[in-house]
Amino acid sequence: MLKLPGLIDPHVHVREPGQTHKEDWDTVTQAALAGGVTMILTMPNTKPPIFDAETLDLALSKAKKKARCDYAQFVGAGPDNAEMAASLADKAAGLKMYLDSTFGQLRLDDMTLWQPHFEKYPKQYPIVAHSESRSMAAAILFAAIYDRPIHIAHISLREEVLLVKAAKEHGIKVTCEVCPHHLFLTSPLPQGEGPGGRGNGRMEVRPRLATKEDVEALWENLDVIDCFATDHAPHRLEEKDSENPPPGFPGLETILPLLLTAVSDSRLTIPGIIQKMYTNPRKIFSLPEQNETWVEVDEDAEYEIHASEMFSRCGWTPFEGWKVKGKVRKVVLRGKTAFEDGIILVESGYGKNVRE
Ligand code: DOR
Ligand code: ZN
Repeated sequence: MLKLPGLIDPHVHVREPGQTHKEDWDTVTQAALAGGVTMILTMPNTKPPIFDAETLDLALSKAKKKARCDYAQFVGAGPDNAEMAASLADKAAGLKMYLDSTFGQLRLDDMTLWQPHFEKYPKQYPIVAHSESRSMAAAILFAAIYDRPIHIAHISLREEVLLVKAAKEHGIKVTCEVCPHHLFLTSPLPQGEGPGGRGNGRMEVRPRLATKEDVEALWENLDVIDCFATDHAPHRLEEKDSENPPPGFPGLETILPLLLTAVSDSRLTIPGIIQKMYTNPRKIFSLPEQNETWVEVDEDAEYEIHASEMFSRCGWTPFEGWKVKGKVRKVVLRGKTAFEDGIILVESGYGKNVRE
C-alpha cells in the first residue's frame, strides 16, 4: 500500500451558487475525497460570479454547510473591482483573471483593465490567469512589469510550456499547472465534423485539446510544470450532447489513477506526483499543513474507469472505459477516515475553509 500526502487540486469549478444541477459543494467534495484530494481551490465563475464581499460570503456560507474536504475560494477579477478584490485577499484562495475567454461579469476586454489588479492584489498571493497562447505571454509580461508572482492555469500547448520555461530562466515569477486531459487526450474532429455533424460536444473544453506534438512537449517538459490540476468543470451529459455543448470535463475522480498509470508506464514518478500535487501547490498558494492527513493507494489494483461509480453529479467522464492501475483505498483527513473502499465517511460541513 502506497501512502501519499492529502493531495491539493488548485483548480476546481464547484457550480454552487447557481448551477447545482451540475454539481454542488457536497458532491464536488465527495468526488475530491474519492479521488485522494483533500483540499480544493475553487473558481469564481459561478452564478453569480464571486467578485465582491457579498458574493464571496455567499459561496463560503454554502461551503461551510456542505463541504466534506478542505477548500479556499478564488475571487474573480472584473472590470472595476480591483480595490474590492485586493481587500478580500486574506479570505480568498487568490485572484482569478479570465484574460481571453469571456465569463459574464468577469470579462476583461481591454489590457488597461488588468493593470489595477496587478498593482493592487497583495504579492504574497498569486494571481491565476486563464490565458492562452499570446495572452499568456501578455500575462507573463505584466508579472515582470509589476514584479509579482503569476500562476498560469492549464497550459496545453508546446509554445506555452516553452515560453514559461524561458520566463522562469529569466527570473520572472511565473508558475504553471497542467491538466490530465491535456496530458492524456489529443484533439478530436471539431464539433460539427463528427458523424451526423455533431457528436464531439463531449470533447469540448477550454483550453481545447491540443495536437500530439503539444502533448509530447508537455511530457518532455514536466520539470517546467509546477502543478497538476484537474480544472474539474462538470456539465451534465445532456448538456454536453446538446446542440450547444458547454466546454469542460470533470476530473477529480480520474486524476490520480491516470497519473499512477503513467507511473506504472515509467512516464512519471511518485515523488513527481507529490511535488506537483502537494509540495508546490502549498508553496505557490501559501496553503497550511493539514495535520494527520494522508491517502492510501493500492498501486497494483487494475480497474476500468466508469462514471456510474463516481460521486460527481455530472454523470460522465471523458475517460469512460479506460483501464488504469492504481486505486484510492482510504483517505484520512485531519485524523478522521473520510473515505474508505468506495464509501464517504465524513459528513457535510466537515470540510474547513483554509483561509479562515
Ligand atoms: O472548459 C472549461 N470549462 N474551461 C473554462 O475555463 C471554464 C470551464 C467551466 O467553467 O465550465
Ligand atoms: Zn477552469
